[in-house]
Amino acid sequence: MKALVTGSSGLIGSEIVRFLDRRAECVVGIDNNMRADFFGPEGDTQWNLQRLREVTRYFRHCDVDIRDRHGLVRLFTSEGPFDLIVHCAAQPSHDLAASRPFDDFEVNAVGTLNLLEATRQHSADAVFVFMSTNKVYGDAPNELPLKELDRRWDYARAADYDGITEQMRIDGSKHSLFGASKLAADVMTQEYGRYFGMKTHCLRGGCLTGPQHAGVELHGFLSFLVRTQLLGKTYRVFGYKGKQVRDNMHSYDVARAVEAIYQNPRCGEVYNLGGGRKNSCSILEAFDRVEELTGKKMDYEYVDRNREGDHICYISNLTRFKSHYPQWDMSKSLDDILREIVDTWNLRLATEATRS
Ligand SMILES: NC(=O)c1ccc[n+]([C@@H]2O[C@H](COP(=O)([O-])OP(=O)(O)OC[C@H]3O[C@@H](n4cnc5c(N)ncnc54)[C@H](O)[C@@H]3O)[C@@H](O)[C@H]2O)c1
Repeated sequence: MKALVTGSSGLIGSEIVRFLDRRAECVVGIDNNMRADFFGPEGDTQWNLQRLREVTRYFRHCDVDIRDRHGLVRLFTSEGPFDLIVHCAAQPSHDLAASRPFDDFEVNAVGTLNLLEATRQHSADAVFVFMSTNKVYGDAPNELPLKELDRRWDYARAADYDGITEQMRIDGSKHSLFGASKLAADVMTQEYGRYFGMKTHCLRGGCLTGPQHAGVELHGFLSFLVRTQLLGKTYRVFGYKGKQVRDNMHSYDVARAVEAIYQNPRCGEVYNLGGGRKNSCSILEAFDRVEELTGKKMDYEYVDRNREGDHICYISNLTRFKSHYPQWDMSKSLDDILREIVDTWNLRLATEATRS
């Protein structure tokens, strides 16, 4: 099997590279470190690429920009055909997109089209997995009746208990420019499945995280929260009283989901994929858990203005994915995830401190 992973130095991409490498699969990764351009030095992914090179045996990195459609075709011609394509390269921030609308759309929407078309021309039988996002629903999930609890918002109706399904509407709501560019890519990916019969799948991620996250304020909630706490800095909470709920999935479980899809692919499919109710927490609840783990108090300030189009309570309903892939289940709990993030940040910060 030969796989192509885009965004291979990022959180999800690097997890998938390692996962496939451990199974002795040949993986070509492409990443141009644009995360550093988007988020500055704190978003730099070179450390992750370096680490990947050290721990893998069957991985080859190519510095290709997914906006360069001719470069992609050259790559497919020289390295392909591929059996599996996992598309993780992106401008991933909801908030950043407004200040860089062209970059956001060219990477997220046009880059995805470039990749789909290169796949159709040069690897038409490949299983194609696109990392989409729950932001394709815009802020429509906020219309569900909610109840305010002590430390979190929750759904008011029992029928919503398991969270948001793929039936949630995708238009007529505020998406942020990021949500709109990802939705364009999501619909295009579905279309290459329905129109051309290709094996395309969209995974609409909730909060996907893990120790390899280069968390920054604008992207990577738990990773950034832990880093801020360990550095003794102040975390800024934007709106909703800090009770906004996110569901968190470890990147390893995303890799396992991709493996399940590869083993039993379908056409033009869409799945919500996040931590579900079991792995959900509000920001305040995340503070409590991280304080328990590190023994340090979380210092935070409250900004009484929510992020544009931010979800108040988002829990992914995993029923559809589980019904198509019953052998898959989540293997990492929220505590596992937090423990790994804390351990890795402790190590990274100690290494940085000895270097400086
Ligand atoms: N992490 C999450 O919480 C989350 C949630 C929902 C969806 N997703 C989606 O999953 C995917 C992966 O997210 P992530 O958290 O790993 O992001 P990430 O920023 O860690 O990784 C993305 C990688 O893509 C690379 N990249 C950006 N532009 C590129 C370009 N033009 N050409 C080549 N490489 C480029 C970046 O350098 C980075 O290494 C994204 O599509 C994101 O929208 C992530």
